[in-house]
Amino acid sequence: MSLLQRPLDLDGIRELDRQDPLASFKTRFALPKGTIYLDGNSLGAQPSAAVEAVEGLMVQWRDLLIQGWNQGWFDAPERLGDRLAPLLGAEPGEVLVTDTITHNLFKLMGYITEGQGRTRPVILSEGGNFPTDGYIAQGFCRFGGFEHRVVPEGEALEAYLDERVAVVVLSHVHYRTGRLRDMAAITRQVHASGAEVIWDLAHSAGALPVDLAACGVRYAVGCTYKYLNGGPGAPAFLYVRRDCQARGWQPLSGWLGHAAPFAFEADYAPAPGISQFRTGTHSPLAFAALEVSLTLWQEVDLTQLRRKSQRLIALFRESLADCLDEHGISDITPDEAQRGSQVGLLAPSHGYSIVQALIARGVIGDYREPGLMRFGFAPLYLSHEDVWQAAQHLREVLSEGEYLAPRFQQRGAVT
Ligand SMILES: Cc1ncc(COP(=O)(O)O)c(C=O)c1O
Repeated sequence: MSLLQRPLDLDGIRELDRQDPLASFKTRFALPKGTIYLDGNSLGAQPSAAVEAVEGLMVQWRDLLIQGWNQGWFDAPERLGDRLAPLLGAEPGEVLVTDTITHNLFKLMGYITEGQGRTRPVILSEGGNFPTDGYIAQGFCRFGGFEHRVVPEGEALEAYLDERVAVVVLSHVHYRTGRLRDMAAITRQVHASGAEVIWDLAHSAGALPVDLAACGVRYAVGCTYKYLNGGPGAPAFLYVRRDCQARGWQPLSGWLGHAAPFAFEADYAPAPGISQFRTGTHSPLAFAALEVSLTLWQEVDLTQLRRKSQRLIALFRESLADCLDEHGISDITPDEAQRGSQVGLLAPSHGYSIVQALIARGVIGDYREPGLMRFGFAPLYLSHEDVWQAAQHLREVLSEGEYLAPRFQQRGAVT
């Protein structure tokens, strides 16, 4: 059933904006004039308050110098973790904001297998997942004496879950297809096999309600630079359920994860609780921008967020439905209950140049090989009218063959 009232005319769409309970958040983001930003799933837009927050940190650095570490810088990983916790269905003390997803996966693989007594030799990841999840599993296995196995894309996990599997790494929302997994059922299935699952929340934190506690999740990782608007290179997070926080050592046993970092003892002893997952010195500058964003996120009703995300996606897809086939484009977005907050349009021959032509018109999406045009829907700063306009731009880019211009064929380092 359509999420939209027909017909899809501009008046009706503006009415949706007037009734939107999240509409006022748009004014709290600083997007360049004329830009329709559909790339929240690679880098979220900037909260207006972030500039002042980063400037404030610069002033602290100038005036407080080293004393800044005792005035809020040092405990930022735990403080921001507690602020993030409600968005994930976690409790205070269960989330740490730190490092990158890649580092955090490595730490958790080591921590979990150590806690299991290294009795299970296999780390399982999924084919077609975001590459870093598989790459770091390979690195971990190579150096830790484990074996890396891959569940081929589209195959059932069940056939691969035997008594040799220690850890499974899975994405909650798939970065290409946008497919949303049944976190509760899969977590139960993995636990029943005696293994642990680490959920990658990169495309679900801030994109939809996540309830780690209700789903029985013990371990998860995620990033804050996409839907959570923490800024480029903002620190990632990890989640370890409270009753699983005393199971062993994590392998990146750096000084700030030590029980007494400033005792400068010769031997490592893990800090109690979530702090043991720290490694080395974090960047207060990066935390400053993220902190104001997470403060804004405290006000967001995630049920409303989900409803709006679904409506925006329905509007975009329905506005394009009659014009994709003739250009050889297929819409691979899953149905409502099985998707995150993105639309995937597969354009095998011209995906990259179509995205470039759209960017030239101020509609920013991104491109992922092979052939995927990916559009992220961040309900806090996208209006229904923005989405409708974006769809009209795409229709024009296609119908006028604009994307064939030579300037849209050149590739930068980041696509
Ligand atoms: C699903 C997923 N996992 C991991 C990453 C990369 O994480 P990081 O660069 O923080 O290690 C991304 C980045 O886009 C991603 O989409």
